[in-house]
Amino acid sequence: AQGIKKYLSDLCSDMEIQVYPELVSTNTAVRERAADGAQEGLAIIANSQSGGRGRFGRNFYSPSDTGLYMSLLVRPSHCPAKDAVKLTTLAAVAVCEAIEAVSGEKAEIKWVNDVYIAGKKVCGILTEASFSMEDGFLEYAVIGIGINVFAPKEGFPNELKDIAGAVFQTPRSDGKNHLAAEILNRFMLYYKTDKKQNYVENYRRRSFVIGKDINVCHADSIKKAHALDVDEECRLVVQYENGETDRLSSGEISIRIQR
Ligand code: BTN
Repeated sequence: AQGIKKYLSDLCSDMEIQVYPELVSTNTAVRERAADGAQEGLAIIANSQSGGRGRFGRNFYSPSDTGLYMSLLVRPSHCPAKDAVKLTTLAAVAVCEAIEAVSGEKAEIKWVNDVYIAGKKVCGILTEASFSMEDGFLEYAVIGIGINVFAPKEGFPNELKDIAGAVFQTPRSDGKNHLAAEILNRFMLYYKTDKKQNYVENYRRRSFVIGKDINVCHADSIKKAHALDVDEECRLVVQYENGETDRLSSGEISIRIQR
C-alpha cells in the first residue's frame, strides 16, 4: 500500500488502500466492506484472484505477480441507475490515460469496458452496484479493474493467447504500483472535479469501435450493424443493415468487430 500511496495525488489523500497476496475476488471483498458501511475511497488490490469475475458471469484470468486486480468503492450522491454505466466509462478513460502516462503505449477502448493496446485486450472493467429500492438512486458502486501489466512468463493460456496482451513487454520495477496510483489519480480527477464534463469526448476519441462494422450480440441473437458514435449517455449508436438506428445500453449486449 505504501508503494502505491507514494504516487497518489492530493485528490486521493483520504483513500484507504489495502493490498492482499490473494483474494477470491477484489470486487467481492469491496462489496462485503461496502455492505458493512465502508466509506467511499476504499480500494482493495490483490496480487492474484482465485475467483476473478468478468462481465456476463465469465471468469477473469488472474494469475499472480503479472496482473493488477483492483476494486474501488464509490458512493456518488443522487446517481440514478441509468448513469451507473458512466462510472465504467470514466474508469476506462482513467485506465487509458494511466497506461499511456506510465508505459508510453497508446491505449484504446472497445465499448463499453475493455481497454486494448495494439489490438489486444489488456484490461477489463466490471462495475457492480447496489441501488435503493426507495428512490432508485445508487447506494454504492464497486468498480473492478483487471489489467495484464506484464505478460505471464508461461504465456497466456490457449483460449486467451490470440486476444490478450500486456501493458509492459518486459518487467518494470514498480510498474504495478505506479500504474495503480495513476489510475486512481485520474479516476478521482474526473470523478471529483469539473473535468468530468468533458470525459465523454475523451472516451469517444479513444473508442476504436466507432466507424467499424460490428456484430451486436444479445443473449439469443446476433445482428450485423455499423457503429456510428457513442452518445452523451455512453450508449453505442448503431445502424442495422435495414437502415434502422439504435442506441445500445451495455447491460445485456456485447459487440464483436467484424473481420
Ligand atoms: C471483463 O473483462 O469482463 C471485466 C473483468 C474485470 C476483472 C476485475 S479484476 C478486479 C475485479 N475483481 C473481479 O473479480 N473482477 C474485477
